[in-house]
Amino acid sequence: MALIDWGQLAAERLTEIAKISEDGPGVTRLPFTREHADALALIEGWMRDAGLETHLDAAGTLVGRTSFTGASQTLYMGSHQDSVRHGGAYDGIMGVALPILALKKLSSEGKTLPFNVEILAFADEEGVRFPTALIGSRALAGTYDPAVLHLKDRDGISIDKAMRAFGLSPENIPKLKRNNNQALGFLEVHIEQGPMLQDEDLSLGVVTAICGIERHSVTFHGVSGHAGTLPMRNRQDALVGASKLISFVHELALNTEHLRATVGALDISPNVVNSVPDEARLTVEMRAPDDAIRAEAAQKIEDQAKEIADRHGLTISYDKTYAQPAQQCADSLTQPLSKAVEAQLGRTLALPSGATHDASAMADLGPMAMMFVRCKDGISHNPEEYAAPSDMGDAVHALASFIENLAKTV
Ligand code: GLV
Ligand code: MN
Ligand code: MN
Repeated sequence: MALIDWGQLAAERLTEIAKISEDGPGVTRLPFTREHADALALIEGWMRDAGLETHLDAAGTLVGRTSFTGASQTLYMGSHQDSVRHGGAYDGIMGVALPILALKKLSSEGKTLPFNVEILAFADEEGVRFPTALIGSRALAGTYDPAVLHLKDRDGISIDKAMRAFGLSPENIPKLKRNNNQALGFLEVHIEQGPMLQDEDLSLGVVTAICGIERHSVTFHGVSGHAGTLPMRNRQDALVGASKLISFVHELALNTEHLRATVGALDISPNVVNSVPDEARLTVEMRAPDDAIRAEAAQKIEDQAKEIADRHGLTISYDKTYAQPAQQCADSLTQPLSKAVEAQLGRTLALPSGATHDASAMADLGPMAMMFVRCKDGISHNPEEYAAPSDMGDAVHALASFIENLAKTV
């Protein structure tokens, strides 16, 4: 068989799947859409090419499994198929493509494993279409909450409805929970989304822990009126309330070590040039490596939002829509992974993740680890996101060695 350039093959596959996107700059591929279905058809082909058996589970996760060998333990690997709006071609999908190639490499070398491997292409990690995320990984870990099915997207379509239109039966999601005792663990490969590996001149790194995150949905309700005739005093302008909260959130994070806080979405009504806004809806997202820092910030932001509403004659609706605690990576996977990266590069870099990942939910199933791949200039959630083919080639080699190292320990 001709020698395969694994990095080149990864780059070709990621370029091809990046074309499956809504129109506009970069990649926009949201869960339970036409683009999602088209992407799964391509991923299923990659999985079959690596000799995996495939099925789509009730949460919309495409699963590629090694053929049954009688082994009771399973190693899980994978990441998400979805993107943000106008995102890049690597976030998430790289973590689906590369472990498939690592399995293809091992099987092309005639290697057999003493455990099963499942590659998972999760539907919805970003939480961009619906105000929640990680349904697929939480289902496997047994932390899925069926109440999320009622949450709606911007067009008023609920998750339940979107899943059914996609051909899924969400009432079966609770049955997806895997046995904790049979899970060797979950390994996620991901583009770093930051500059540390580039600064260290390394193609790969080993993650130590994933930050915690929570998201709030806030609506200020005021009173609309004529922009020219309504006196400035005692206006009940919902957007003025929102703007004060946006500044508070930004200042709080600027002055709190390790806290990231962002207002990323804002909708106002009636949203015309000559009316006072009577409604302003915004999202607030907080992240920190320490859950106590995040909890304290969340309380301050909620208190401040209520105080602003009082001060400006507004009423407020305030909901926490999503939270995922910080998670530590497990030694049982991190050690064979670090050994594999060191064998490939001569050294490793241990680094934390400020982004969240399916791995943080999969940590509730069993041991969890992550490998990062160098990200050009640290740019991510942006059409310019880029990982070099040779770095992805290093990742495929390190992943295959990781799997072999792990096989020696079970
Ligand atoms: C997800 O990728 C996030 O960190 O927002
Ligand atoms: Mn991601
Ligand atoms: Mn992302």
